[in-house]
Amino acid sequence: MTYTFEMYQEAAQYILERTTLRPKVAITLGSGLAPLAEAVQAEQVFPYADIPHFPRATVEGHPGRMIVGTLEGTPVVVMQGRVHFYEGYTLQEVTFYVRVLKLMGVETLILTNAAGGLNKAFHVGDLMLIEDHINLPGLVGHSPLWGPNDERFGPRFPPMNRAYTRALRELAFQVARELDVDLRRGVYVGLGGPAFETPAEVRMLRALGGDAVGMSTVHETVVAVHAGMQVLGISTITNIAVDRVDAAEEASHEEVLEAGKKVAPRLAALIQGIVQRIG
Ligand code: HPA
Repeated sequence: MTYTFEMYQEAAQYILERTTLRPKVAITLGSGLAPLAEAVQAEQVFPYADIPHFPRATVEGHPGRMIVGTLEGTPVVVMQGRVHFYEGYTLQEVTFYVRVLKLMGVETLILTNAAGGLNKAFHVGDLMLIEDHINLPGLVGHSPLWGPNDERFGPRFPPMNRAYTRALRELAFQVARELDVDLRRGVYVGLGGPAFETPAEVRMLRALGGDAVGMSTVHETVVAVHAGMQVLGISTITNIAVDRVDAAEEASHEEVLEAGKKVAPRLAALIQGIVQRIG
């Protein structure tokens, strides 16, 4: 699907016409993190299937709806579930919602995800602030910005050296300190999936400077930064990437969902604190 500007507008209009709130902050919830939405006082809930042109989520742990409401009094949009490239969507489809948020007036995008730990100091259940990313599909041309550029969203060649907004990163650490939540920092490697990495790939990604690895987030960040939005990224380390061929353990989606559930309360508190400060 190639989207026109009007299609993004239609989706944004659809939501704006049905809500009174005008959130400046949106939060995308990754695998197993859907319960975070429970803290939100919903004004209106939109199943993705009801929003014009929206691709639908299909993966377990991703219910697929947009919640417009308030979090401790601050208007927010919560994207409960996302679609992934490996499901067969194009990167334009994967990132469709980001531009819709932009046209709705959202300025700050908080992206969460489940990720495998590459950094040897990480443990299952850790939270990692994304300082920077390695977009492996992007490096070989799989970019959501592939194709004609629409200047109404942003420039042809957007810089990515400050993709994850510094002020938001500092705010996240400040809130984490206040809440006594342990927050790691690191580089998120975005891959296509859906196969988990081989041990050789895990060692390669670690050698490249990756601290965590996952199958989302980087495309959304690229589109958000292109559109001039502020981005904050937080990974939950749901498993430790296996780096030896004969290791007994193996990565599984169940493990990812299980760990996500356990971290959800801590992540919810952190995000609530951050949103309140932004608001
Ligand atoms: N690899 C890739 N994506 C992931 C992982 C992983 O180990 N864990 C959660 N998402």
